[in-house]
Order: sequence, then C-alpha cells, then structure tokens
Amino acid sequence: MTSTLLRGRTLSFVRWPETIDDHSAWRYEEDGGLLISDGRIVASGAYHDVEKQAGEGSKKIDHRPHLLLPGFIDTHVHFPQMQVIASYGAELLDWLNTYTFPEETKFANAQHGRRIARLFLDEMVRHGTTTVAAYCSVHKASAEAFFAESHDRNMLNIAGKVMMDRNAPDGVLDTPQSGYDDTKALIKEWHGKGRQHYAITPRFAITSSPEQMEMAGALCREHPGLHMQTHLSENHAEIAFTQQLYPRSRDYTDIYEHYGLLGKKSLFGHCIHLSEREADALSESGSVAVFCPTSNLFLGSGLFDYQRFRRRDKPLRIAAATDVGGGTNYSMLRTMDEGYKVIALNGEKLNPFQSFWQITRGNAEALSVADKIGTLDQGTDADIVVLDARATPAMRLRMETAQTLAQELFLLQTLGDDRAVREVYVAGRTAKSDMAN
Ligand code: GUN
Ligand code: FE
Repeated sequence: MTSTLLRGRTLSFVRWPETIDDHSAWRYEEDGGLLISDGRIVASGAYHDVEKQAGEGSKKIDHRPHLLLPGFIDTHVHFPQMQVIASYGAELLDWLNTYTFPEETKFANAQHGRRIARLFLDEMVRHGTTTVAAYCSVHKASAEAFFAESHDRNMLNIAGKVMMDRNAPDGVLDTPQSGYDDTKALIKEWHGKGRQHYAITPRFAITSSPEQMEMAGALCREHPGLHMQTHLSENHAEIAFTQQLYPRSRDYTDIYEHYGLLGKKSLFGHCIHLSEREADALSESGSVAVFCPTSNLFLGSGLFDYQRFRRRDKPLRIAAATDVGGGTNYSMLRTMDEGYKVIALNGEKLNPFQSFWQITRGNAEALSVADKIGTLDQGTDADIVVLDARATPAMRLRMETAQTLAQELFLLQTLGDDRAVREVYVAGRTAKSDMAN
C-alpha cells in the first residue's frame, strides 16, 4: 500500500476555543505533515517528524503555503433542491408549496435523481465539504441514487428519504406503511455499507400524520444507533399551523418528544423560535439544534441565538449547515460569514477559531462521528481541505495586511468561497482536481 505525505500549514481543533487566544484549543503547525495510508491519517504533526515515518515510496505533495484543515461538514442540506435554490419572494410555507414540493416530484424519476446526486456531490466537494447530512426526496429511488453516488466516491455521508404523508402534492407523498417499509429497506441496503449512514427523516410535523410519526418513532426504537433528522421551529406561520395539527402538544418540540424522536443522534433544523421549555427539552435529551444562517435570512425566518443557546444553564448542542435550497450557498465559508452577521445582530460575536471549529470538529461532534472525521488526528479518515487565502485579487490584497492566523481565517470566511478551495481529499484520494469538469 503506497502512502501519501502532505505538507502544508495544518490546523485541527482539540475542543471549542473559548477565546481568540485559547491556543490549547487547536493544533497548528506552520510546517505540518500528514501521512496518509489506506484512506486514513496514520501520522500527523510537524513535517520533519512525520516525514521520518513515511516510507521510501511514499508520494509527497507540497501544499505550502496553503492551509490543510479537516474537510468541512454540512449538517443539514436537501440534495433535491439544487434547482430550487434562488427562488424568489416567499416565506417558508409558500416557498415549499410554490417551488420545493413541485421540484421534488421530479425525483420519482430515478434517472433524474442520479443526475442530481452526482452534480450535488460534485458541488459539495468543489466547496470543500466532504460530509453532509442530507435530505433526499420522498422517493426511495432518490435515496438509492444518493447513496450509490456517495459510496462510489467513498464519502462519509448521512442521508435519508423524507417521510411525508400529508399537506403536500400527491407526487411527493408516501403513506405511514410505505414510508416505514421504504426506510427499513434503505437501512438494510445502505446503513453501514462502506462509509454510508442512514438517517430516519420525517420531514416535519406538518407533513407527517400522527400515524406516520408513530412509524418514525418505531423506526428509531428498532434502530437505536441511527440518526434522526427533521425541522423544528423555523417560521411563525409554520409553528401556528403545527400547533393546529397537534392541538394536544404543549409546544412544537413536544410533538417530536411524544413520538420518541429526541436524543443524541437527533438533528433539528432551524430551532429559531424555541421557548425555554423547548430548549431545556432539547438540551436534556442531548439533541442537536442546527443553525442554517443563509436559509434563515433568505426565507426571512429569524435570527438563531447561537451564543445564548451555548451559554444557557442547559446548553444546546449546536451544528451549522447550509440548508440548500432554502440556503443560498453551498459553501461552509459563506455560511459562517452569514452566521457571523446573524450572531452580530444578536449583539454577540463568533471568533474565527470558533467558526472553523464549528464547521470541522464541532459539526463532527454534533453528528457523533468525531472519532472518524472533523480533525487531523492520527487514525481518523483522511478527509482534508486545502485552503488558499490568496485565491482572488481582493483576497491577495487583503492578505498583505493580515498578520495572524486568526486574521487569515476570518478573511477566508468573509471573502472566501469555492475559489479558496485548492484541493480536497476524500478518504485520502484527491477529489477536487480529479473531478471531470
Ligand atoms: N421545512 C420542511 N421542509 C423544509 C425544507 O425543505 N426546507 C426548509 N428550509 N424548511 C423545511
Ligand atoms: Fe431544511
């Protein structure tokens, strides 16, 4: 087995950086090395130390002066919405009915699903994202297309077909029984195959009947190790309609609680307008609240109170995500730029180390996969992004005055996008430069 030795400025996080000077929260090597063999990082540290462990035949790739980070992780994204992104003028419920549901009906056609799955993962990799938690459409074939494409690329991805049996056009509806059966079959075929993970995915309470929610709960009980993903408390009209549909529930979160859907592997998209009780319930169950800044701004949904959620007595586990096609960009750099502004509107700041922690190790911890991805630690999978802070003339000019790593990272977040992504490694193999254009 030949090994690969990467050289560059390596940055990986150990834990949440409390402040911008909290140096022990990350490991940074000005001249760093990563030795990769069989898809894994087998040595990591100062280049000259790592080089000693590399065999004679190992292939050396010098990425200096660029930064090597763990590949970015997007914890909430809808792959069938590539042709929904940039749809004008609506808030959530109208946006779903006018643009999103009609578009998702096209995924009844398996060939369409395969085409979009391929283009979607191309786009993710181009933007430096090596892992996603993805929603597929209601159609079993859309999830098959996604997993087949993901498996072919040897990516660690989490995905599920959405379960939805009401309040949407017939072309995107299943039934409690077919949603259950299709999910079961997909779990059996794909979960644990290579790097694939299945997520049980009831879309949200509006589009699932109580019978379907029961089925989703049953699936979670029957497969306790699996992820569960859904939407929660995104928009005021959504919340009001949800309460009408589930009049006996204390609040929106209580619906999911009632059906046994809260827990450490449960991902709740948005969580913008939570009551204190709801935040407590999420915290106590170890559930994850997913911050989707570009989507929350684009659909006019509201401002996620990131720092307050972190600081409360019962803190929330937080992840960050694009939520394409409600979200407006595939890039986690663009996402955190908008996230910074949302947090600023709440009178707070997110420093650049916290931001890059979030889209690497933080998101890996939120997905409970930090033993495999999200760091450059020895023994983890070699999913790596190479970032160039001088990728454009404006970035190059601004870099003339950047003196610290913190400034460089903040510049990458504020001005960067796919152009700043020089190379991407997925399980040790080059993925960006090898991509057919
Ligand atoms: N709530 C239910 N479905 C969706 C979706 O596709 N996007 C967003 N942003 N919210 C949702
Ligand atoms: Fe979403």
